[in-house]
Amino acid sequence: MSEKLILAYSGGLDTTVAIKWLQENYDTEVIAVLIDLGQPENLKDAYDRAIETGASKSYIIDAKEEFIKNYIYPSLKANTRYEKKYTLATAIARPLIAKILVNFAHKENAKMIAHGCTAKGNDQVRFDVGIKSLDPDIKIIAPMRIWKLSREEEIEYAKKNKIRINVTKKSIYSIDENLWGRSIECGNLEDPWSEPLDEIYKWSKIKKNENESQYVDISFEKGEPVALDGEKMLPADLILKLNNMAGGYGIGRLDMVENRLIGIKSREIYEAPAAEVLLEAHEQLESLVLDRELLHYKYLIESKISEMIYYGLWLTPLMKSLMKFVEESQEYVTGIVRIKLGYKNFSVVGRKSEYSAYDYNLATYDKSDIFDPKFSESFIKIWGYPYEILAKKGRKNG
Ligand code: ARG
Repeated sequence: MSEKLILAYSGGLDTTVAIKWLQENYDTEVIAVLIDLGQPENLKDAYDRAIETGASKSYIIDAKEEFIKNYIYPSLKANTRYEKKYTLATAIARPLIAKILVNFAHKENAKMIAHGCTAKGNDQVRFDVGIKSLDPDIKIIAPMRIWKLSREEEIEYAKKNKIRINVTKKSIYSIDENLWGRSIECGNLEDPWSEPLDEIYKWSKIKKNENESQYVDISFEKGEPVALDGEKMLPADLILKLNNMAGGYGIGRLDMVENRLIGIKSREIYEAPAAEVLLEAHEQLESLVLDRELLHYKYLIESKISEMIYYGLWLTPLMKSLMKFVEESQEYVTGIVRIKLGYKNFSVVGRKSEYSAYDYNLATYDKSDIFDPKFSESFIKIWGYPYEILAKKGRKNG
């Protein structure tokens, strides 16, 4: 009896030609697992293509709910952005995909897992580390790491083997998408000086005029978005709605050069309208309800968490502990943030919470002011004492 192998199948070029290649090079049955994380592709068509190309079985797994609950929301609560910008859509999906693949391997009694990552990217690290952390005995095969083909050569290979794929030589971009964002690479984007062509954008295609704008109120409960304009919604619907709403204004685009884990720089384009708006709204709500020390300490670990997610270290003891801290910090992150969406831009224009730590009477400059100015003088005297003393002793400050 031949071996069994679980393939992380996306329906894209790499994993489709991989089905054929795996069968040619390993004595194995290929089981293609398609994981639905909200990518708008035609999964049924991808399913059919997997079977046509020779997979013995194919599965479509709807993992959207788990993705939101255990990956998107935790990273929203931690305000994660890699290198201060990238909202990590691709990166947070990988540990979940790894988990589902390992579960399938156990269910099907398969000893191998294959994925379509190349030797240059971050995703290979996230998959390999994720899979090995869950089951060290599984053999990982990454055809694209062994079989060095350009995208053009892959397309040729597909043609020669009569494999039905969904790319033409013209659309040469490599795209990864899920509910939290869309990541685009390759083509002319590989030159950091070359401006992205409009054709690459899908979620942030502008449908509004320059003078159009609208408000949207986002309600949060313990750090999680629960309603838009007072209407409670299922998490996936809320994210989708916000992607459409903000995307229509051209909001959520990001063009950056980032440092990959394996040491090279890459130019990436991202579209993440809902993620951008929710992160900003969430951060602003935290500013209203969290005390200064917690807020500032949280900033420190947010960049650490972002880096760990990017580096494929989701399933690690440190990550678990840091995420416990983040979860704990969200107890009072409940309230409403008002966003104004406009042409290629948005801003937070209001925020309120039953747990607001903002005290109007202390903050105001009008006649309801209750702040006692004499406290300030004494406080500042003591705060600045160390430097006053140095100066008195003839030491030069600054
Ligand atoms: N650079 C991003 C990351 O490592 C996105 C990679 C997305 N892949 C793609 N095929 N566009 O998370």
